[in-house]
Amino acid sequence: MSEGNQNVSRRKFLTGTAVFAVGAVATGVASGIDPKTAAAAAPSLPFPYQTLDVNVVRQRGYTYYFSGGCMYASAKALLDTLVEAVGAPWDSIPADMFKFGKGGALNWGTLCGALNGSLAIIEIAAGDAAAATIGPELLGWYSKFPFPSSAHESYCQYPNQITTVADSPLCHQSVSLWCDAAGATVNSPQKKDRCAKLAGDTAARAAELLNAWKAGGFAAAYQPDADFARCLPCHVGPTSRFDNVQGQMDCLECHTDRAGHKR
Ligand code: HEC
Ligand code: HEC
Repeated sequence: MSEGNQNVSRRKFLTGTAVFAVGAVATGVASGIDPKTAAAAAPSLPFPYQTLDVNVVRQRGYTYYFSGGCMYASAKALLDTLVEAVGAPWDSIPADMFKFGKGGALNWGTLCGALNGSLAIIEIAAGDAAAATIGPELLGWYSKFPFPSSAHESYCQYPNQITTVADSPLCHQSVSLWCDAAGATVNSPQKKDRCAKLAGDTAARAAELLNAWKAGGFAAAYQPDADFARCLPCHVGPTSRFDNVQGQMDCLECHTDRAGHKR
């Protein structure tokens, strides 16, 4: 299609939308609904979910990493597979929006983008209440998983890579620890291959959890390690003694459990 044609069809599309919006406003006025509310309506969550092929999601996550980074990779792997399985409204989400999540949000090393992208799709597929149990399971699993898995050996660029456990959902820990163990730099092709596998692994795990939830068989299994689980009753949560700490990450990754601390 020539660029001119694309512009024409885009204009047609916009005109169609405008007509629809005017119609919605008119209906809103007639029925006494605030027209602004009526015009802004987006499809409500959750979107319909169908059981996904976990290994298709895994390989797509690996492949897509190289065109948009880890968050884009995990989100698009799930999205494309959902568009095939379900269709609309999944085809209305632009995967490019997830590119900001690479390197833990534009290379700041905060939340791993593979988690961020997977969590976004879990929220859309499962809705708020179910996502609040499925999401933490993914975060906990990720924190304890020795990445990358060996499920990509047949198509990856660097098979048989060394694995590390981050004990954290943060990109900073996950990447820095692995680079140190592997003797690789953050911008090396080896590290990119590792994070591509990780993006596939994380999206695949999200699909696995959603499949189990869809089948009525989801059960949360993650438990914090005992050495920091004991910090939680005093510091974390509305019923804890002080309720003065936000988070569920392993405290001992950053704090020492030094003598003299009140017990
Ligand atoms: C029995 C309750 C209790 C438990 C369990 C507990 N804390 Fe605390 N924590 C406190 C209290 C009380 C304070 C403030 C007074 C103090 O510093 O002792 C505090 C303060 C802190 C502080 C800030 C002040 C400082 O001393 O540096 C950190 C950091 C901290 N706790 C981390 C942890 C970690 C990590 C764990 C688990 C290994 C933990 N806490 C377990 C009660 C607890
Ligand atoms: C990723 C690193 C990291 C993790 C994980 C972490 N913390 Fe912290 N925490 C910090 C930093 C950094 C501060 C700010 C310390 C400062 O500047 O004094 C802080 C502050 C605190 C404070 C207040 C300290 C003060 O001076 O009063 C408490 C209490 C605390 N953390 C407890 C915990 C507990 C309990 C956990 C586990 C649930 C935890 N932290 C997990 C990094 C971390």
